[in-house]
Amino acid sequence: MEIDFWLERWDNNQTGFHQQQVNPYLAYFYGNKGPAVEQREKLKVFVPLAGKSKDMLWLSQNSYKVFAVECSDRAVKDFFEDNALNYKHAAKEQHALYQSSDLPSLIEIFQGDFFELQQEDLDDVTDIFDRASLVALPVEMRQDYAKKMAELQKPGVRTLLVTLTFDPEEMNGPPFSVTEEEVNDLYSETFSIQKLLVKNVIEEEAGLKKRGLTALDETVYKLVRK
Ligand SMILES: C[S@@+](CC[C@H](N)C(=O)[O-])C[C@H]1O[C@@H](n2cnc3c(N)ncnc32)[C@H](O)[C@@H]1O
Repeated sequence: MEIDFWLERWDNNQTGFHQQQVNPYLAYFYGNKGPAVEQREKLKVFVPLAGKSKDMLWLSQNSYKVFAVECSDRAVKDFFEDNALNYKHAAKEQHALYQSSDLPSLIEIFQGDFFELQQEDLDDVTDIFDRASLVALPVEMRQDYAKKMAELQKPGVRTLLVTLTFDPEEMNGPPFSVTEEEVNDLYSETFSIQKLLVKNVIEEEAGLKKRGLTALDETVYKLVRK
């Protein structure tokens, strides 16, 4: 899916992937199950292909620093405006950097192409929350995405990766089905992989059911850059 596809979706309000609620896995693994509150301000969570996800707000409200990338300026502005956050922005050639200006909320969004990020952009990132990013990309792009992720991360960076698995004969993506085998193929050389949970979510995804899915599993993995 090239960037123009996504910009058009934002322009036409075709944003069915956007969740009104904070992602439950984020709240679980970074909340009570996660690091103690006093540890969190040392942690910076990267949110790739972020859209205007409420997850960024939750992270910031729960003492994490946030760095995100999103190609649509509409999505980025909506994120700050919908959440009544003041922001400043600096435009560069191919991208812009948006930053919340209400302390203590520390949210930085790189508005541009994920594939243009440089290692130094993720210098102090300790964690990554990847929901609906890997599954937003078709198979060839997923290989480039995983390779880029490995290039960007320092050893020890942890990722919470949320994927969807379904019969691809039943529905064209996005979202795309990503199997456990593919996660292993994409990441096992450069990351350790732990499968944390699998949940049958077909009844929670009315939109995808309407598009033809009869079964849908959500899987959460923890990856650690080797
Ligand atoms: C399926 S949505 C997921 C959004 C978000 N993670 C969430 O949970 O709501 C994928 C997002 O990635 C953005 N996107 C797609 N390709 C991108 C790229 N190459 N660089 C930056 N953003 C991209 C799209 O504009 C879209 O908002």
